[in-house]
Amino acid sequence: MAWTKTIRGIVVKKTTWLLLIGLLLVGIVVPGCSSGTSSLQVATDATWPPFEYVNTDTKEIEGFDIDVMKAIAEKADLDIEFVNVGWDPLLAGMAQGTYDLAISSITITEDRKKDMLFSDPYFAAGQMVVVAADNTSIKSHMDLSGVVGAQIGTTGAFEIEKIDAAELKTYDDIGLAVQDLMNGQIVAVVCDNPVALDYVKVNAGKVKTVGEAFTDEFYGIAAAKGNEAVVAKINTAIAALEAEGKFAEISKKWLE
Ligand code: ARG
Repeated sequence: MAWTKTIRGIVVKKTTWLLLIGLLLVGIVVPGCSSGTSSLQVATDATWPPFEYVNTDTKEIEGFDIDVMKAIAEKADLDIEFVNVGWDPLLAGMAQGTYDLAISSITITEDRKKDMLFSDPYFAAGQMVVVAADNTSIKSHMDLSGVVGAQIGTTGAFEIEKIDAAELKTYDDIGLAVQDLMNGQIVAVVCDNPVALDYVKVNAGKVKTVGEAFTDEFYGIAAAKGNEAVVAKINTAIAALEAEGKFAEISKKWLE
């Protein structure tokens, strides 16, 4: 049975009533969108300290990349909102246009450029090998043999695949690979050098890095295709922040 309500003596049917509420909602929501207040969704996989990780005390996402993105947003006058997603869904989501932008220590590669746009580089990194502190047989990536861990779909995993003697074990979270290394489940971990150095710092006496960074990679901010105008703004901001010494300041905060 359709109910009715009486307003000032006028009987309003349920359908009419719902229609009125609907119109009211449209009146509130639509101007909010059209005035450009909706923010850009910036995806990040916050499992990669010290570049992006969740602070266990504050539960906030923080790190080098988060500071970089906030500085760029301020300089370029962009309204942003971070979305914490896994690495695999992040890359897939960028290719599908699910997110506007992503900052996540993403190495600019020709392959990824087919699926998404990249800003100019803002950081130079390379792959590094982490082994148990008492390991004496592995002195560089060239000595890798046995089971070696990396985060799935990362440039570290791609490097391990190139080494015949090594068998790749993939993880969704590099922290779990480091745990397996410390438990003796795997012989080494390959990841970006700042991340390798951070795990060694946190687990001093248990793990160590061997050799130098053995690849040359550059991190860029990814944007979904079609966002060329935003990328142009980001590039202008990156150049300005570089000139102002902002990157040096952020590096000092997170990498020293
Ligand atoms: N630089 C590497 C790559 O692009 C690893 C990045 C992983 N980042 C992350 N937040 N998990 O493949």
